[in-house]
Amino acid sequence: MIVVNNVWKEYGDQIVLERVSLTIEDRAFVALVGPSGCGKTTFLKLLLGEERATQGTIVLDGKPLAPEPGPDRGVVFQRYSVFPHLTVLGNVLLGKEFEASRFRARLVGAARRDAIEEARGLIAEVGLAGSEDKYPAQLSGGMQQRLALAQALIMQPRVLLLDEPFGALDPGIRAEIHVLMKRLWNETNLTVVMVTHDMREAFTLGTRVIAFERPRNRPDERERYGASLSRDIDIWPPRRAGVLDPDSPDRDGPIHEVGASRDDPAPSPQGDPA
Ligand SMILES: Nc1ncnc2c1ncn2[C@@H]1O[C@H](COP(=O)(O)OP(=O)(O)OP(=O)(O)O)[C@@H](O)[C@H]1O
Ligand SMILES: [Mg+2]
Repeated sequence: MIVVNNVWKEYGDQIVLERVSLTIEDRAFVALVGPSGCGKTTFLKLLLGEERATQGTIVLDGKPLAPEPGPDRGVVFQRYSVFPHLTVLGNVLLGKEFEASRFRARLVGAARRDAIEEARGLIAEVGLAGSEDKYPAQLSGGMQQRLALAQALIMQPRVLLLDEPFGALDPGIRAEIHVLMKRLWNETNLTVVMVTHDMREAFTLGTRVIAFERPRNRPDERERYGASLSRDIDIWPPRRAGVLDPDSPDRDGPIHEVGASRDDPAPSPQGDPA
């Protein structure tokens, strides 16, 4: 679904990424790890369309990636993904309003009511019902990240890009939001690429863990050699979106997949008939 072919990214004389080639399957959850400064955020920005590759191509669903961020790609950063001057509801509605403003000045009438209803539903889904009128500063860090997820998801992106979104949260809160993240990934048609510093998080959430590393990392070499893919690990047993995960604390929770009935027996993760 996403094909990254021999991508290089340079800033001035500094080579940040080199020879990055990678195919990401539809509905994968890729966890991206690597030392600080190795270009993880840069790689996400390339996928988002916020930066252009110096060389190489990125193809999304068979088409070259649009050179600017669009509604098919959502993003959540470690901090500051939400707007401090808008309420929870205002933040979630924002994307819809921007979309509407391409046609007319703003959302009006029935379209506005529908959008508000959808936003409220999503706010409830991420566990923020009752906080619709609060401002981000009145929310805890975990709540702000839940809000950032809702804000990204209302546009129903195909690809969700996460840059250490849970890195600043306390372990307990982080575990809760992992459960939410897993549920969202299971229930929506999302392919996720998540940067994290936390290996446990990578293996808890990912279907695949990839690592970036600079092959040469002496101070005098750092600018002339970019990082590239050094490890690519498929989680075993394989984890698939919409399929119950025996390790997940959320395994008894609802997993609805379009077209699948809850009464259907879940295939075993190994895919064997036992
Ligand atoms: N806009 C820019 N202009 C110039 N250099 C940049 C720019 N953005 C990033 N860099 C450089 O690219 C390198 C990789 O940065 P990047 O933020 O992608 O690393 P990272 O892997 O996300 O690090 P961290 O784990 O600390 O977040 C760094 O050396 C950084 O200084
Ligand atoms: Mg970064």
